[in-house]
Amino acid sequence: MILKHYIISATILCAAAGANLKAQTASPRGADSLAPTGHWSAYQAGSAQLPPMGWNSWNAFFTEIDEEKLLGSAQRILATGLAEKGYRFINIDDGWWLKRRSSDGRIIIRADKFPSARGRKGTPSFRPLTDKLHAMGLKAGIYSDLGRNSCSQAYSEGPAQLPEGSMAEREVGLYGHSDQDIRLYFVDWGFDAIKVDGCGIRAFAPDSERVLSGQFRAFPPLIDQHSLTRSDIPAVRALFWDINQSLAKYNPDGDYMLSLCIWGSANVRSWGKDVGSISRTSDDIAPEWGRMLTNFDSAVSRALYAHPGGWNDPDMLFIGKGDFDANHLTEARSHFTLWAMMNAPLFIGADLRTTPQALLDIFGNEELIALNQDAAGNQATIAFDTDGFQILVKTLANGDKAVALFNRGPSTVDAVLTADHLKFRTDRAVTLQDLWTGTKSNFTREMKLQVAPRETRVFRAKGDHLLADGLYLSEQPGVVNPAVDGVMEPQPDPNIYRSIPGWRGTRGIGERPMYAGWGGAMADATPYNQALVIAGQSFASGLGILANSRLEIRNQGFTRFTAKVGVDDSALDGNQTVRFFLYGDGKLIASTPPMRRGAPAQPLEVSIKEVAIIELVARADGVKGNAVPVTWGEAALRY
Ligand code: GLA
Repeated sequence: MILKHYIISATILCAAAGANLKAQTASPRGADSLAPTGHWSAYQAGSAQLPPMGWNSWNAFFTEIDEEKLLGSAQRILATGLAEKGYRFINIDDGWWLKRRSSDGRIIIRADKFPSARGRKGTPSFRPLTDKLHAMGLKAGIYSDLGRNSCSQAYSEGPAQLPEGSMAEREVGLYGHSDQDIRLYFVDWGFDAIKVDGCGIRAFAPDSERVLSGQFRAFPPLIDQHSLTRSDIPAVRALFWDINQSLAKYNPDGDYMLSLCIWGSANVRSWGKDVGSISRTSDDIAPEWGRMLTNFDSAVSRALYAHPGGWNDPDMLFIGKGDFDANHLTEARSHFTLWAMMNAPLFIGADLRTTPQALLDIFGNEELIALNQDAAGNQATIAFDTDGFQILVKTLANGDKAVALFNRGPSTVDAVLTADHLKFRTDRAVTLQDLWTGTKSNFTREMKLQVAPRETRVFRAKGDHLLADGLYLSEQPGVVNPAVDGVMEPQPDPNIYRSIPGWRGTRGIGERPMYAGWGGAMADATPYNQALVIAGQSFASGLGILANSRLEIRNQGFTRFTAKVGVDDSALDGNQTVRFFLYGDGKLIASTPPMRRGAPAQPLEVSIKEVAIIELVARADGVKGNAVPVTWGEAALRY
């Protein structure tokens, strides 16, 4: 009854809201970021419709990379069958360059380490190496920096494979040369991917030791990793945008991959998804359990920011060393499972020439690779959350769910997995297939499962969806893009595990969370990670976001959109009013009156037949103080 009544009032409201909207859209483009566009704005260029897979030299060799090591791992990728399973990229990280030639600014390769690069006329080229990799059916990736200098120049403790020559010759980064370098790397040398680091715009402040000592030219930092308010977000974004444009220009076939590496700084969570294929969410991973937790946490709550074409990157796999070596198979399997569930890029960081079979078997687990490479592109969302134990669930293209039970701590957990966690019906059987052992089992309503310390049990689950005729939006984050997420100033995410960083140990004051992300759009939680509640009514499913915001939703074949919307009870300001608008391909199809905290959830039910892009807008009437969390309760696409 309520629904029917509301549809009528929504129609009446449309007229008023439509008039209002005309005034807003009449303003120049960009002036009103909440105005509907009718478009999907997340990154689609490049070739990362699925999370990229491959190998990267950094974790195994740091700067001491050479051709033998690289080709050794490339050959093993083929010989072990990993290439056939999807591991295609062979990426060179820092350490490959010798200098920037003064006469013409061309980058010169460290040819003593890459013999095939030695040119006849003294100008080394990577073309023979990329030709070789391509002939092996592989893809080749290279590494550079946004600034003038690279990370190893900023942080390396020894001289190993650092650029040489005068100060100007050692300026090997993209700054001031991005078009020239991208052309060289992609057109002349034939690379297929580039990782662009950010140390050059972060670590060379005028008062930094290496600048004061005369080694490097000062670069007033655009990124300040210790103070979120001091990063120049538009400037950082503009530098990446230039690279994005050069890549498109020099790769007309669209076969390229851009990896952003600014470690979750400069609020990259909110815009990296529009600029590149993968985007790092934290500082470097280390082969330590605690550090893996930090990197995992930096990406796991950002499911809505990952889609086919652009993925969260919690850094490369460190399986093969330390806590993830062959003596720690439980930890190594957990690390792999978590990365697979998060749709993280799967870049092996081990020296494959010496990697034991037990670890190769982990990289080669086809069931887990299939979760990572599932066509629907839904990053797992958190179905159960505590500090020590989590349950992650991921909706797969065929309607199955993948579920991972992750024991972060040192004691065995007697867990209970429920049909509710899976958003499956509690009165129907659920079947599970263990993706490490192959064992099958089934349950109705709930099932007890023991999870050993640091173990992640992972299953493919089949069952009857809670919604018989559709899917909640929080079950399909891959079709949701927070185009405008309402975050005005980036705030550090306090939910990230604070590990002892390997590079600093316990020097200094310890870790303070510095990865911006707090307040972003969330699946099944408010932007500040509370349960979703409108006027006392709880929603197990829904999207939480701040007003003012605009969510883009891709629709493939659904005919109805339903939701119950309102200001979330967690809003600090009870007087702030918010109106909710729903657009189909740019046209207003429903809206609500202004709502305050405490106003009962307003049901919305509209036809979206033949609508390709739905936009959900929450518009606050002038946010005065605290941003207002709003809830799109039970928001769903239905048939
Ligand atoms: C940074 C990146 C690493 C690696 C190094 C190379 O630290 O985060 O992944 O590329 O630089 O110096």
